[in-house]
Amino acid sequence: MTFTDTYGIKPESLSWEVPQDFDARFTWTYSDDRKDLLSLYSKGKQKQWDAEYRIDWDQDIDYANPQGMPDELFALNGYAEYEKMSKAEKAEIRRNSQAWGLSQFLHGEQGALICSAKIVTQVPDLEAKFYASTQTIDEARHVEAYKRLLEKIGLSHPMTGPLKSLLEQVLRDNRWDMTYLGMQVVIEGLALAAFAGIRDYSSSPLAAAVNAYVMEDEARHVAFGRLTLRSYYPQLTEAERREREEFLVEACYHMRDRFEQRELWDHLGLDTEAAVQHMHETAGSRQFRNHLFNRIVPVVKDIGLWGETVQKGYTDMGVLDYVNVDIDALQANDEQIAAQFDARRQNIADVAALAAAE
Ligand SMILES: [Fe+2]
Ligand SMILES: [Fe+2]
Repeated sequence: MTFTDTYGIKPESLSWEVPQDFDARFTWTYSDDRKDLLSLYSKGKQKQWDAEYRIDWDQDIDYANPQGMPDELFALNGYAEYEKMSKAEKAEIRRNSQAWGLSQFLHGEQGALICSAKIVTQVPDLEAKFYASTQTIDEARHVEAYKRLLEKIGLSHPMTGPLKSLLEQVLRDNRWDMTYLGMQVVIEGLALAAFAGIRDYSSSPLAAAVNAYVMEDEARHVAFGRLTLRSYYPQLTEAERREREEFLVEACYHMRDRFEQRELWDHLGLDTEAAVQHMHETAGSRQFRNHLFNRIVPVVKDIGLWGETVQKGYTDMGVLDYVNVDIDALQANDEQIAAQFDARRQNIADVAALAAAE
C-alpha cells in the first residue's frame, strides 16, 4: 500500500505548485556577529536525531482511538447526533478526526520544510541561513515521522483550506520576514500547542513519543523566529509594522477556524453546521481552541508587534492573557520531557535485556 492509498477524502491533485518571486541571496561578509543565532545553530546540530531509531515503530495502535486520546477532549463529545451513534460508528468518526488532525500536522510539516529552505535561500544573514539549514533537516524528519504514524493508522486526509491559503500567502510574499511570521510564529506556534495536547494527554506511547520528540525541535524553531524578528521589526516603519500586525491577526483567526474540520464532517455525512456550532458552544472545546494560542501571544509581544490592532484582535479572541506565559520555561520543559521519553524507552530495553539474560 502506498501513502496515496490512505487518503479518505481524495485530494484534488497529487501535487501543488506555488509560484515564487524572490531573490536568492549570497553574502560575502561571512559574518559571525549574531551569537544568539549561532548558539541556536550549534544546539540545532547537536540535537539531531533519527526518527527511524529513536522511536519504537513496532508499538501497536488502537484502531478505534489511534492517538489514545480521552473521550472528553474529542470535539464532538456531547454532540447529540454523535452521542446517539453505535460504538462502531463513533469509533469511525473519532478515527477519521484523529487522522484528519495528524494529516494537517504532516502537510504543515511539509510546508515548514519548504519555508525553512526558502529562508536559507532568501534571508540576508549567514547566521540565519546556518540555523535555517538545521531546521530544514528537522522538518524533513518531522514529515518522515508523521507519515509513518499515518501509515500505521492506514488513513489520512488532504490539507485543509485555511492552512493551504495561509501557506500560499506566506510562500508567495517576496519579503523574507513574512515567511518567518507566518511559519515560525503562527503555524509553528499553533502546532506546538496542538502537539503538546497529544503528548500530554495521549495514552498511546507511540503517538505521545512522536509528538514529544517533534516538540523538542519545534521549540527551537519558534525561538529562531523570535530572535530574528525581534531584532528586525524595530528597524521597520510604523506603517510597515502595522501591515504585519494586520496580517498576523488575520492569520490567527484563519488558523483558529482550521480546527472546525468542516470538510471532514461533510465527508462523514454529518450535519456540518450543527457540528461546528456544537464546537463553538462547548466550553471545553472553546478553551481548547484558545489554548492553541498560548505559545503565539507571548512571542508576538516579544518581537514588537504589539500595537492596537494586535491587542484588540487578541482581546476579541479571548487570548490576550497568554501574554504572560513564560516561553523560555516552556521550551526548557519541552526538552526535559523529550529526555524523559528517551529514559523510559531505555528503561524498558534494560528490563527486557535483563529478563532475556535470566
Ligand atoms: Fe516541524
Ligand atoms: Fe518546525
